[in-house]
Amino acid sequence: MSIVILGIESSCDDTSASVLVDGVVRSNVIASQKVHEAYGGVVPELASRAHQQNIVPVVSEALRQAGVEKKDLSAVAYTRGPGLLGSLLVGVSFAKGLAIGLDIPAIDVNHLHGHVLSHFVRETPEQEVPEFPFLCLLVSGGNSQLILVKSPADMEIIGKTIDDAAGEAFDKCAKVMGLPYPGGPHIDRLAHEGNPKAFTFAKPHIGGLDYSFSGLKTSFLYTLRDGLKEDPDFIETHKADLAASLQHTIIEILLSKLAPAVEQTGVRQVAIGGGVSANSGVREAVARFCETRGLRAWIPPRAYTTDNAAMVAIAGHFNYLDNPRGSDLSLPPYARVQV
Ligand code: KG4
Repeated sequence: MSIVILGIESSCDDTSASVLVDGVVRSNVIASQKVHEAYGGVVPELASRAHQQNIVPVVSEALRQAGVEKKDLSAVAYTRGPGLLGSLLVGVSFAKGLAIGLDIPAIDVNHLHGHVLSHFVRETPEQEVPEFPFLCLLVSGGNSQLILVKSPADMEIIGKTIDDAAGEAFDKCAKVMGLPYPGGPHIDRLAHEGNPKAFTFAKPHIGGLDYSFSGLKTSFLYTLRDGLKEDPDFIETHKADLAASLQHTIIEILLSKLAPAVEQTGVRQVAIGGGVSANSGVREAVARFCETRGLRAWIPPRAYTTDNAAMVAIAGHFNYLDNPRGSDLSLPPYARVQV
């Protein structure tokens, strides 16, 4: 019998539902929330209200597109955390309610595991997927981690940021340049027109496999401050060069820990995931890094880089194979990383 999983994602500002049949994606519906644009960041209370409005139509549409009826579902997988508690509560409560109503298991999923496992969401049954163990560079708005993925359930964080995440460095620097939120995609677009060597920003000197992005952010601010003293139009005149140099530095920082991580773990496959893995420079740099070393690179389709329920459904699929009874229905959502 086929395993049919409905995935539900509501950890931040995207309401998403997806249906996977035996790991093959049948639908992945995402309702993004425009309401936050005016505020330059996600407003938690507005996010939870928008999730409440979106969740029923998004789930119905995901089932309709998949050609699947509720009675066909094997289980409902939902993001339990990390994320905004109010947002998570909507998806968690909906998923549990649906599971109880249908008398099927509810499966809790760690959002970050979902990002890592997004490489296993297949468009066709024949599609290739990574082999264990592999290394995953998980870079998003809230996290920057190097993860040794030994199995769907066994992931070891071997490096992480000690302050800001890579996405935060993109977004905060973009914000001071007057770019809309989230700034990452805008920096990516501008970087194509600029010189990546025009400006030099600080890079961290920390041992091991950990990251730091706060020094880069500070040195970016100092560059703007000094530039604006000389020329009030400094940002406007140099925006492409600033964006290209910022992106270049973030990529250098990210890649500086990849080589030692590969050496230390002996893996032959490297994957990337999370919102920042949508960045064209990051994608190219990791692909080149792997090519020159004879490693296999796994670069996710852009649709699976940002928050989506297909990755939650695939994580749920693996959990379901391990534990078909699902998770305890009394599990509450959690805001912070738990790996
Ligand atoms: O994984 P994600 O959707 O959720 C959070 O962790 O919040 O990641 C969002 C992050 C934001 O910081 C956003 O600016 C960044 O991913 N991002 C990008 C690009 N697309 C999204 N950063 C750089 N270049 C992009 N093309």
